Amino acid sequence: MPHRSLLRQITDYANRANPYPLYEELRRTPVLHEEDGGPYLVSSYWDILNLLHDPRISSDAANLAAAGADEMGGAAETGLPPSFIRQDPPEHDRLRRIANRPFGPPHSPHKIEAMRGDLAEIVSALIDGFGESREIDVVDQFAYPFPVTVICRLLGVPREDEPRFRTWVDPIVASLDPDTGGQDAERRHAAHEARMHLGMYLAQLVEQRSKEPTGDMLSELVTSHGPDGPMTTMEVLSTSVLLLIAGHETTVNLITNGMLTLLRHPEYLERLRDDPRLAVNIVEELLRYEPPVQLVPQRTCIADIELRGITIPRGSRIWLVLAAGNRDPERFSDPDRFDPDRGDIQHLGFGSGIHICFGAPLARLETQIALSELARRLDNPRLLEDPPPYRQNAVLRGPRHLRISFDGLRP
Ligand code: HEM
Repeated sequence: MPHRSLLRQITDYANRANPYPLYEELRRTPVLHEEDGGPYLVSSYWDILNLLHDPRISSDAANLAAAGADEMGGAAETGLPPSFIRQDPPEHDRLRRIANRPFGPPHSPHKIEAMRGDLAEIVSALIDGFGESREIDVVDQFAYPFPVTVICRLLGVPREDEPRFRTWVDPIVASLDPDTGGQDAERRHAAHEARMHLGMYLAQLVEQRSKEPTGDMLSELVTSHGPDGPMTTMEVLSTSVLLLIAGHETTVNLITNGMLTLLRHPEYLERLRDDPRLAVNIVEELLRYEPPVQLVPQRTCIADIELRGITIPRGSRIWLVLAAGNRDPERFSDPDRFDPDRGDIQHLGFGSGIHICFGAPLARLETQIALSELARRLDNPRLLEDPPPYRQNAVLRGPRHLRISFDGLRP
């Protein structure tokens, strides 16, 4: 059998259900460069953490394009500027600060906590909706609709438009998957078209809100006049595209990975049912053990970087494999064990540094409520398929379906 690079094996769908043995192999060469012109893969916890804080590592879409990845976050064809996840300081910081004003401290310190009641109601309604069924798909009937409803409400996007925007979100998310199956150009084109349509759809909402603000985040973004000044309309649109997609495509996987992991470790499911406070540690351990964002592939070195005796030349692409770092035995004892009781769970699941996940407080609260309510209300839940079928994506990894059965619903 011909030798296949680790990079190809990691992106190969055949390994999606359990990529962790590949990550173990990867950590044996902590800076791995297998293909001319290909990325440098970094897999040890401390190296990843350092690089996430290193200003010589750029997130700028233009640098990535110059490094040969031939993409501009959609800007070239859609006219929408790259969102702040694809920008460096000072632009990144300015846009993130404006976006954060209506979302978190210091200006909106109670925003997320104030959503707790609403989140619990949405979760209860979804579980009640299982009705008399004794078999469900956790993804389609719960883990997907929940964060979609939440992000729609937060932004002020009509929930009933989900079938419309999903047709645009899917190709954008697919374009984040490094395994193109040789269809790079087609996929990039589809993603650019989709981003343009999603931007045009959001532009109508933004225009309405600029005339009649309604207190949601779209209204706040379009009327913001803090010390950083307003965002341009184009900046509001690319920020809204980012928040709409990042706000649900990852949380769905954390909830589903969570239910799958708890069903594989039923002692924790029982403990969670008896004590919902355990949800905090369970969610942190899940972000370490089964992180929904497995790797960050969109970084470029803007200076030569010496790492472990290797020079990563300026202009190289670099992949930070968060999921490998999260199971690095130099950082965590017994890293392949799911152990919500471990005292120290400083995972890389939300990244770190200036691009650390913007929505982390919301994602945490959503997943804590989702898992503790599933644990409390489902009587004797069981997996019907293990491993479940996975989504194609190697970056945003999670089951496509998770079929379970149970004996009934508790009130
Ligand atoms: C379990 C759910 C989530 C996970 C695992 C997750 C993970 C991540 C990671 C790893 C990054 C860093 C990317 C990088 O360094 O390039 C990130 C950034 C980001 N996330 Fe999340 N995320 C989640 C939920 C959310 C939610 C609910 C929102 C929105 C409400 C959100 C909005 C963002 C944004 C806007 C960024 C870019 C931050 C920046 O560039 O400064 N995320 N997320």
